[in-house]
Amino acid sequence: MANRQALKKTDGVAQNPGGDRAAAEARALLARSEELISAERIQAKVGELAAAISREYAGADLLLLCILRGGVVFLADLMRRISVPHTVDFMAVSSYGAGARKSSGQVQITFDLRTSIEGRDVLVVEDIIDSGRTLASVLELLRARHPHSLEVCVLLDKSERREVEIPVRFRGFEIPDRYVFGYGLDIDEYQRNLPYVAALRVGSAGQA
Ligand code: IMP
Ligand code: MG
Repeated sequence: MANRQALKKTDGVAQNPGGDRAAAEARALLARSEELISAERIQAKVGELAAAISREYAGADLLLLCILRGGVVFLADLMRRISVPHTVDFMAVSSYGAGARKSSGQVQITFDLRTSIEGRDVLVVEDIIDSGRTLASVLELLRARHPHSLEVCVLLDKSERREVEIPVRFRGFEIPDRYVFGYGLDIDEYQRNLPYVAALRVGSAGQA
């Protein structure tokens, strides 16, 4: 791209140092991956989940609480198919070190909600549950803020890896213990834009 240098600089500060190499690596990882859940299956499932949520929360004061960044694509599709009035808010937590493929278990709130959840019917929208540690910490923190109800909607569940029990009210797909990305989930921060869920091919370098 001709104006690549210009795109990478704002106020003289490089925005993504080493980004060319990281993007190349992201492309290489994509080449070593396979489709695990197609875009069509995801969209069908999102429709089913949205219908179930719309039934369950008829007459409620629903707040969809999206965990950034992985949950954002799922939220965007889900909310447009939910037929009951609701608001949305966002929270960011980090539980992985840079480049890590497994949750560290050390969960930090890096961006908090802008709205009060007291008395609200809160549905946490999350991309994936692995060990369960991230969500366990988030739920504990949210419970202390006295919502009227607190439930979880997750697209992908690696339930065989669970270390902490999590009550999941709405679940998309059970998946095997493999590193997945796409549809909001990242591999080293890239490939969130894929419309399907991919997994690294078994035995390929880069797999956890
Ligand atoms: P847990 O705390 O082990 O349940 O990890 C949950 C978080 O780790 C999720 O919200 C994701 O952000 C991330 N995560 C877990 N497994 C994967 C994966 O296979 N691909 C991408 N992100 C993952
Ligand atoms: Mg997540």
